[in-house]
Amino acid sequence: MGASCSAGIRKAIMGGGSHKVCVCGGAGGIGQPLCLLMAMDPNVRELSIVDLNVAMVPPDGVAKDLGHIESKVKVTGYVMEVGTAPKDSLEDCLSGCSLVLVPAGMPRKPGMTRDDLFKVNCDIAKGMVEACAKFCPQAVVALIVNPVNSIVPAMAELYSKAGLDPWKIVGVTSLDSVRANKFVADLTGCHPSNIEVPVIGGHAGVTILPVFSQDPTSACLAPSKIEELDKRTQDAGTEVVHAKNGKGSATLSMAYAGARLGRAVLAGMSGRPTVECAYVKSDVTDLPYFASQVLFGKGGVSRVLPIGQLNDYEKRRLNEATVQLKTEINTGLRYAKDAK
Ligand code: NAD
Ligand code: LMR
Repeated sequence: MGASCSAGIRKAIMGGGSHKVCVCGGAGGIGQPLCLLMAMDPNVRELSIVDLNVAMVPPDGVAKDLGHIESKVKVTGYVMEVGTAPKDSLEDCLSGCSLVLVPAGMPRKPGMTRDDLFKVNCDIAKGMVEACAKFCPQAVVALIVNPVNSIVPAMAELYSKAGLDPWKIVGVTSLDSVRANKFVADLTGCHPSNIEVPVIGGHAGVTILPVFSQDPTSACLAPSKIEELDKRTQDAGTEVVHAKNGKGSATLSMAYAGARLGRAVLAGMSGRPTVECAYVKSDVTDLPYFASQVLFGKGGVSRVLPIGQLNDYEKRRLNEATVQLKTEINTGLRYAKDAK
């Protein structure tokens, strides 16, 4: 490959954009590869990486490491002492951000449900969301931290209470679509980039509802295969938790999926409206929060798209998802109501 060709490729993947992005929990399992991918996003100008003083790697070290790649992005690390409130210490880190990605929090171990993480992780998210409300209220705050089904309603209600736009709080569920696409590709031999399965509902167990009937390749599969793929997509997180054997949950695939959501948000803000599945305040079903395809535009979420036609199997699954999701949303709403 000639020198000019290689330079062209590098320019294409490392362009300097106009947006500042923060990754909170940026020294963690998801955080580090997510920082790498965001430093390569052509819409990013500046990346701030924040993590605790007890993180496995100092955030300054992650920033220094990333600062050596051939990207125009300026990368800065910020350390937060355990016990300090982000709203007292993160002004430089958050000011001017368009997007704050939050993979800060505890991951599951085998035998745990995502719900078991609620109290500890919701308190972590609250600290971060309060800081965003103070220093970057216009930013999209993309919550990766689990349980997404309960933490997103809690945080969006806190934004509403503070007079801010609850649509700035976005639950990251793109990993479910990534997985459904990959599983269909493996089964059919099609390239994953030609498959787009919307996954609606939420991000835990039966609330994860892949709508295979809306993807032309998947729609041709036998009903028994669809049922297997549906179950596998629901259980995929647990599959990784078991394979990692007590050493965490999905990190690399999550970083990929988080960067996909991040890319959609920043593309929308840069004038190219982009659709991606996400879990947000919604009126497309009877539930107040729901994951479905969302149109991202200049200010973040610009429209929540209708869920479209479902077949009889998917309608049954929607009823099942609704029952569980309602309980998990209520957990979040109660948290917001009681929050000081
Ligand atoms: P990890 O333990 O490897 O990393 C978490 C990082 O967050 C650590 O570096 C930790 O120091 C940091 N942290 C903790 N509290 C913080 C705070 N108050 N401020 C700043 N940083 C803080 O965990 P992980 O594997 O990266 O997973 C993170 C979260 O993402 C978990 O809750 C996990 O369940 C969730 N997750 C969600 C999805 C999804 O699809 N939405 C997928 C995978 C994992
Ligand atoms: C996933 O789906 O991989 C994440 O929600 C992490 C988990 O606990 O399964």
